[in-house]
Amino acid sequence: EVSQPAAGLRFTITAGPTQEPLDPVRYLSNHSSGKMGYALAAAAAELGAEVQLISGPVNLAIPAGVNGTQVTTAKQMLEACESRRSTTDIFIACAAVADYRAATPADQKIKKQANQDELVLKLVKNPDILANMAKATTDKNNPRPFCVGFAAETQQVEDYAQDKLLRKNLDAIVANDVSDNSIGFGSDENRVILFTQHKQTIQREALPQGSKLALGRQLIEKLLAFYKEQKTL
Ligand code: C5P
Repeated sequence: EVSQPAAGLRFTITAGPTQEPLDPVRYLSNHSSGKMGYALAAAAAELGAEVQLISGPVNLAIPAGVNGTQVTTAKQMLEACESRRSTTDIFIACAAVADYRAATPADQKIKKQANQDELVLKLVKNPDILANMAKATTDKNNPRPFCVGFAAETQQVEDYAQDKLLRKNLDAIVANDVSDNSIGFGSDENRVILFTQHKQTIQREALPQGSKLALGRQLIEKLLAFYKEQKTL
């Protein structure tokens, strides 16, 4: 019997990649497996939370006790998140959202041209889902959730993570080094550093390397503790 410290709390968690269509048969995407986000969703549900998992295309089953919404593009993910903003206590953005999408996806399959050795694609920036969710509001009917981001980087991981924590107005950020192939994308294991912020003061905690499931549990417990501490301040 697991204790239920998250009972009554509503989590919204994004996971997986997004796919941005170029034409009816091609898309831009990335190597996110969704494992970390699904592990977080499972852990939060085990602790009694009401969990909505908003997932891009992955090969994973929705964990027991979790509500799943499948999306494809960043725009769809944003809409799904925003529709839940006012009923979310804790928002965790674990998805690897494509930074750019095709400016105008072609209606028909883009044909290879015999006389054309180069093809230029015009991309436009996708909305930042996390930054949108973390925006300060004074509207009592649409309060800002407690917001947690992920920072997957290949260099200067800790600096970039702290910069994002402040710039996107987050309560916490989880940093991981995706240049190390034994952890991160696709792997079953991960090693992360958790940074929390209160009034611009940042605290750092390195978690020991472990399975994404074990880390998911640890992260949810630590985030819950920090969330509850904030509520009483
Ligand atoms: O800025 P960067 O993409 O590195 O930030 C990563 C964090 O922001 C992750 O938590 C990711 O889920 C979130 N993000 C988002 N929407 C985007 C880009 C990133 O929610 N368009």
